[in-house]
Amino acid sequence: MPRKIAAGNWKMNGVQSTLAELRTLEDKHGDADIAILICPPFTLISACEDTPFDIGGQDCHPEDAGAHTGDISAEMLADAGASYVLVGHSERRTDHGETDALVATKAQAAYDAGLIAVICIGETLDEREGGNTLDVIDAQLEGSVPATADALNTVIAYEPVWAIGTGKVPTTQQIAEVHSHIRTRLSDRFADGAAFSLLYGGSVKGSNAADIFAVPHVNGALVGGASLTAQDFSPIIAALEEA
Ligand code: 13P
Repeated sequence: MPRKIAAGNWKMNGVQSTLAELRTLEDKHGDADIAILICPPFTLISACEDTPFDIGGQDCHPEDAGAHTGDISAEMLADAGASYVLVGHSERRTDHGETDALVATKAQAAYDAGLIAVICIGETLDEREGGNTLDVIDAQLEGSVPATADALNTVIAYEPVWAIGTGKVPTTQQIAEVHSHIRTRLSDRFADGAAFSLLYGGSVKGSNAADIFAVPHVNGALVGGASLTAQDFSPIIAALEEA
């Protein structure tokens, strides 16, 4: 069975005082039997070590070390206390021109450092309106997910670019279509494809979480804005616990 994961991607948000939100979450969900993953900015990873939550980086460099000013390696994330790392987020693909091939090398670097890679994929609005969503998903899965992936080292997050930070959410039918397509493709390619956790991301809120978690093959969410406060993230976690 895929593991249920409520993941928060804080993006470029969060300073020491933000960690108070995690204490509040811990009071409510400290003994949850689903995985709760927090991906804070790199500066807060070590400070999260005393929480009961899984901690992840938001990106890593494909190499272990070297002359790459401003970058961070998977090994460094693991050393700081992370057990996951996001790779291929659409903001990295757009802001930093990351290609599927680069994302695959980052995922491999994550595996080599003992981290679980959360590989993000998703179509733009133009691609959806052009009727190309499933082709884009196929190309991203093929190009970004290494042959060495398995259900223990990899989570796939489907995040339609047009739903991120916009308040626009696909219909549950649209999410169902893509998630079941991803499941089929993973099962075609990997012996344990049925066991990969598949997350939906893009404008998930307390008010829509239960409907999204009821969609087949949705095993959790990757949440941006609504993961920044305990007040907003807690109902999403609660909905996943009940799903
Ligand atoms: P929002 O939840 O703010 O739409 O962001 C989604 C996301 O990009 C998570 O990685």
